[in-house]
Amino acid sequence: SRLDELRNRAKFIGRSCKEVKDRYGQAEDGLYYLTTSTGVVYQTFCDMTTAGGGWTLVASVHEDNIYAKCTVGDRWTSQQGNWANRKTFGTVEAATDDDFKNPGYYDIDAEDMSVWHVPNKTPFYHWNLAAIMRYHTERRFLHLYGGNLYYLFHRYPVEYNVGKHLSDNGPSIPIVYDLGDKESTKMFYGPYSGGEIEGGFISFRAINHERAATAICSGVKPKGGNVEHYCIGGGGFFPEGNPLQCGDFTGFAWNGYGTHIGFSTSKQMLESAVLLFYR
Ligand code: G3P
Ligand code: CA
Ligand code: CA
Repeated sequence: SRLDELRNRAKFIGRSCKEVKDRYGQAEDGLYYLTTSTGVVYQTFCDMTTAGGGWTLVASVHEDNIYAKCTVGDRWTSQQGNWANRKTFGTVEAATDDDFKNPGYYDIDAEDMSVWHVPNKTPFYHWNLAAIMRYHTERRFLHLYGGNLYYLFHRYPVEYNVGKHLSDNGPSIPIVYDLGDKESTKMFYGPYSGGEIEGGFISFRAINHERAATAICSGVKPKGGNVEHYCIGGGGFFPEGNPLQCGDFTGFAWNGYGTHIGFSTSKQMLESAVLLFYR
């Protein structure tokens, strides 16, 4: 039965979805138990199908209220430093209802990342089909930065005044699309942003004109310094119009809510959580 199948999953011992797939041949997407190197047991979603499978969901970035500026719901844009610490929050079933970060974020030794943009409040068994954009990297780039985002963001702190836009940005890594393409990616961001971005990448620790730092530019590589309109997360201080750009989805509604005018993203983008996977 279905319940027996789920009971069965509790028997697997793996540090990542890739390990569970490689060791036990599990091929079904869904919730699995994982164990960290220090013995912390947690449950998360495994994508066992995309491009060979074995992708572990480690985090989601969710915008609860774009009008609230660096409030408690902006866990990824605050001076708490959550991009580079071992704090965890949220639950896997609510990863599209609120922010989520599990021990895999700092524990898994990974090579690549996959990212899904999934409309808010979608239940996990519909994430794949409901997503508006899905892509992954294939170049094993995480090896160069310590094996996961915890270490990458230690090398590239997401803090105010760490450097200058473009010259001090973190890496931009080419992506392979599983849903969407370079053009559809650009269409999710505002028309003014369009002149500053190149689709087909995931970028890290992008800095803006005022020396504020963001964490991830999903699907794009910045070519300018207004990164607050196409990069998410941040160090908790954004000088321009302070505090208007301070939030998990930074300045995504700079020219109105979901208007897709000026620097505003489309409503679909604004109302979708960004799910981060490792493999
Ligand atoms: O990030 C956009 C800002 O730097 C310029 O916007 O509204 O003054 O045209 P605005
Ligand atoms: Ca949030
Ligand atoms: Ca700006």
